[in-house]
Amino acid sequence: MGYEGIVEEIKSRVDIVEIVSEYLNLKKTGENFKALCPFHSEKTPSFVISPSKQIFHCFGCGAGGDVFSFLMRYENISFQDAVKLLAERTGIELKFRKDDTEKQGRRQVLLEIHRAAAEYFHQLLWDRKEPLDYLIRRGLTRETIREFFLGYAPGGGDVLFRYLTDKGFSRDDILAAGVCKKGESMVMDTFRNRIIFPIFNIRGDVIAFGGRIFREGSMAPKYLNSPETTIFRKSYELYGLYHAKREINKKGYVILTEGYLDVIACSQAGIRNVVAPLGTALTEHQLRKLKPLTRKVLLLFDSDDAGIKATMKAFSMVYAQGMLGKVVLLPEGDDPDSYIKQKGTEAFRRLIGNAMGLVDFYLATSRSGEVETVGELIRIISKVDDGVMRAKLVKDIAEKTSLAEVFIREELTRHRRGMLDSGGTLNISSHAMGVEEMLLSLLLNHPEYIEEVRKEVVPEQIENERLRRIFLKLLNSDSGDIISRIDEEEKAYISRILLDTGFDEEELDKNVKDCIKRLRERGLRKRLREIQEEIRIAAEKSDRELLTLLQKKWTELVKEGQQSGIL
Ligand code: GTP
Ligand code: MN
Repeated sequence: MGYEGIVEEIKSRVDIVEIVSEYLNLKKTGENFKALCPFHSEKTPSFVISPSKQIFHCFGCGAGGDVFSFLMRYENISFQDAVKLLAERTGIELKFRKDDTEKQGRRQVLLEIHRAAAEYFHQLLWDRKEPLDYLIRRGLTRETIREFFLGYAPGGGDVLFRYLTDKGFSRDDILAAGVCKKGESMVMDTFRNRIIFPIFNIRGDVIAFGGRIFREGSMAPKYLNSPETTIFRKSYELYGLYHAKREINKKGYVILTEGYLDVIACSQAGIRNVVAPLGTALTEHQLRKLKPLTRKVLLLFDSDDAGIKATMKAFSMVYAQGMLGKVVLLPEGDDPDSYIKQKGTEAFRRLIGNAMGLVDFYLATSRSGEVETVGELIRIISKVDDGVMRAKLVKDIAEKTSLAEVFIREELTRHRRGMLDSGGTLNISSHAMGVEEMLLSLLLNHPEYIEEVRKEVVPEQIENERLRRIFLKLLNSDSGDIISRIDEEEKAYISRILLDTGFDEEELDKNVKDCIKRLRERGLRKRLREIQEEIRIAAEKSDRELLTLLQKKWTELVKEGQQSGIL
């Protein structure tokens, strides 16, 4: 099967409604579904998904297309990657089957190894006084320890390795899982004499571990993480996501902190929509992972220089993803864990309630002059796709600085002009459907009329250039399924026309004939107008000969129009 064949095959096997509903909350309205558009911010849903046509369209921002378009836009991936993603779901092989099932089986084994190790560590913790006391001294309850499945990795060198081998796992698989590593002469446990923080993926599988020392004065690094494996990529995962996902959904925003213990401390204090990167700076992959759950991010960082820098970086990533950010700066030297311990849960809640927005944060913390700071802000805002959101931010800046709104807007336009050339979204204003769109809509929905229209309408009769292009493609196909064969910009346009049917399904014949008639009438009237103008000129020049010719032509055209019932 060729690539196009595969694409068609995938499309025939997936349901756009099913795919989109994994990302958005859908409501049934008549034969279609509606949702809040994920590509711009809105309060009432204008994002429509049609199961019968297998397309979506947002009447608010003009985004639209087929299931591939949706994934490309939502996941920010290429067409090829969208195809790959759906191929996996539908079980269509892009490569050899053997490879894939082998890979799948391998993944399963690595997950089993992690599960076994996590359980082993967790059981051990309850019997080991020193690490358990450490956690309790730090304020963790037994319930919390259980919930986050904390554990203890024994010292001794290869205790876990022997345990896993006894359970029947192979040396190669254990090494591939990253829980053990090759030493000079033997296989050693990766984590030795450490408190263990299992790292779960969003589905709740353990995919890696973090391990912390618990003795004062140790020279070893405070934390150690599992190495990257085929099931663990540090920059894609978030600590606490599995435990937080429900609450993120419920609260409508996510809190991002810096450390394992911050996540756990917040959760124990009843603030459970909290996650943290795994010891590195926040990445865009992690934000993308959060996006299907919420678009609002509350950054909870330290207020020292490093914290402020990290916050600025995080803010610009959040906005570039089309998400919204707020920030709470903790007193210098504090993290959520220490803050809650010292000031209590209520004080912490109040702190969160007083989060600062992007503009306030920049104005409060920037060390450069006002103009430069606003310049920074404009750079961030220029990446925001949603016009309403941009306008709000501009207004916010103007209100809080001495700079005039026009200046800010001009700067913003300058920035965006540079950006839009390389792939900005095209805004299509919704307007009443003209005859050209109506005909196109008819043909897209009912390709059986293509033949008839091909005989009656010439492309030159379509005045709108984009419509004429699509029209031409349509006339050159016989199935009417042209959505797979056009570019993304045209897809967005067509998806609207497909949904926005301005015709009466009951009277298709009549509608098609009407459209043809109206197009011909329009063409005829246009020619008549032209002749009229020429007659005027000929009369001015007193060119009798030309005048006679033109009048004859005029009469002919009018007669033709009357005979075919157009005029
Ligand atoms: P406590 O220090 O026990 O309160 O833990 P914490 O979670 O507050 O850690 P901290 O704020 O010191 O660091 C934030 C995060 O950075 C940690 O949760 C780890 O993910 C990571 N981290 C800290 N120290 C190290 C280290 O020495 N090595 C590595 N790889 N990661 C570290
Ligand atoms: Mn801490």
